[in-house]
This record gives sequence, C-alpha cells and structure tokens, in this order.
Amino acid sequence: MPLIAFASPKGGVGKTTLAANVADALCRSGRSVLLLDLDPQNALRLHFGVPLHDTSGFMADLPRRPDWRAQVRRTASGVLLLPHGAMELRAVLEQSLLLEREPALLAAPCARCWPTRSFWCWPTCRPAPPRFWRWSRRWPPSS
Ligand SMILES: Nc1ncnc2c1ncn2[C@@H]1O[C@H](COP(=O)(O)OP(=O)(O)OP(=O)(O)O)[C@@H](O)[C@H]1O
Ligand SMILES: [Mg+2]
Repeated sequence: MPLIAFASPKGGVGKTTLAANVADALCRSGRSVLLLDLDPQNALRLHFGVPLHDTSGFMADLPRRPDWRAQVRRTASGVLLLPHGAMELRAVLEQSLLLEREPALLAAPCARCWPTRSFWCWPTCRPAPPRFWRWSRRWPPSS
C-alpha cells in the first residue's frame, strides 16, 4: 500500500490543505484512504468536519502502544482519519525524543492499521523531524 507524505521544512505552504484534498479526491475515485495527522497543530481534522472542541487524537497515547484501529474516524467524505490530538508543547517535545529512540512506537501500530493492501496512508507534518524521514523511507514497517 502506498504511503504518501506531505511534509516541508517551511510552514504555511499548503501541506494540510493539500493532504486533505488529495485524500478526498482519492476517496472519491474509490480508494480507501487512511489519513494520519502528525502535526501537533492538530488542524487536519478541521477539513473533515471534526468540531473545534473535539481535541482527542492518537498521538498522546503512543507510549502506551494502543490499538489505533479503535480510534480511526470515518469522516463524512469517507476518508478514514486519525487526528493528532491536542498536546502540551512539553509533551510534544518529549514524545519527539521518545520516537527518535523508539520509531517502532509509530511504525508498528501503523502496520496493524492496515487491514488490506487497498489502504493508502497520508501523514502530514510540519517541519519534518529526522525520525519521520527515516521512518517513511523504511515503509512498510515490518511489525
Ligand atoms: N493551493 C492553494 N491556493 C491558495 N491558498 C492555499 C492553497 N493551499 C493552501 N492555501 C492556504 O494557505 C494557507 C496555509 O495552508 P496550510 O495550512 O495547508 O499550510 P501548512 O503547510 O499545512 O501550514 P503549517 O506549516 O502551519 O502546518 C491556508 O490559509 C490555506 O487556505
Ligand atoms: Mg499544516
């Protein structure tokens, strides 16, 4: 299953908007799309009608190795979405360091989210951390 990353070291260039629109277009063309928001800004959900006050997401629980499949949201457009969720800046920085040490915390649940090969994945992140590039180059994760 293809993984497409929308990432740029420059802010405000359209990563989130493009990810949302391409995911929607692919969904309309009959493909199954899983969209992950890796940006702590947590804005991708707003393109899919998630209310502003609904700030839950998948990233905060990452260290506890959750099963994300229970957290996937089917949006009105049909795109499956995993919002990043609201997190304190300190927690974001700590988690970034944790993922440097243990990239499998992100890669392994992604692999488990993949019930069929027809799924597509669309992470989006702002100034991309080195671990993201390392991880995406190794896709698909082995476990
Ligand atoms: N193709 C486009 N044409 C015109 N405006 C656009 C286009 N794509 C995005 N924009 C606008 O540019 C602004 C930034 O877009 P967006 O939030 O998608 O960028 P981003 O790279 O995700 O930003 P950030 O680095 O803050 O996450 C928004 O106001 C958006 O509406
Ligand atoms: Mg963005």
